[in-house]
Amino acid sequence: MLIAFEGGEGSGKGTQISLLQKYLEEKGFEVLSIIEPGGTKVGELIREILLNKNDLGLLGITEAFLFSASRAQQIRTVTRPALESGKIVLSDRSFYSTYAYQGYGRGQSLSTLEKLTEIAVGDTKPDLIFLLDLPPEMGLARKRSQNQFNRLDAEDLNFHQKVREGYLDLAKKDEKRWKIVDATKSSKEVHSEILSLLEPLLLSK
Ligand code: TYD
Repeated sequence: MLIAFEGGEGSGKGTQISLLQKYLEEKGFEVLSIIEPGGTKVGELIREILLNKNDLGLLGITEAFLFSASRAQQIRTVTRPALESGKIVLSDRSFYSTYAYQGYGRGQSLSTLEKLTEIAVGDTKPDLIFLLDLPPEMGLARKRSQNQFNRLDAEDLNFHQKVREGYLDLAKKDEKRWKIVDATKSSKEVHSEILSLLEPLLLSK
């Protein structure tokens, strides 16, 4: 089972993934947590380019290729083998981040991004996506206070608002797989909400 966590900056994906990993392992599941972009040697190098704070003049389409390249490598060498061995994979971001950031945020055409994604991931798509939704002002303030600002965080508020609207639009189009969680709440409350949404699905497996 592949579960993706999506959301804007400072939405708490990392915290929720560790809490869920711990919970699932205590229940006896084997779990692998991964992060996009990254997770492989070349993926880490691509990540450095993408999150570099200098102005590299990267075009939106170049960015989309780089995120997809990192993803293509990770899916084949890490994600699929883990899924095939029966693990639950928790992914911090997925190709839906490319749709939200490069598509809705930067204005790249969604059909182009869908083509790239088809090549990068094939049939390996999340069974479930948790969208940790919160106003971008709140997420960015959280990130600033942790001193974790990167190139994409430095975009203006309007960009992050478009990303949020994009996520909500994607979630609306596929309500069965997307679960929207209110990420303004405490991490404990968000964790309980995630468990209540996930438990019925785990039992039915
Ligand atoms: P990261 O430091 O991992 O931030 P976060 O904790 O918010 O995930 O940086 C990832 C950044 O890359 C984040 O700003 C979102 C962006 N991104 C895209 O623009 N497109 C993508 O396809 C992915 C995977 C991430």
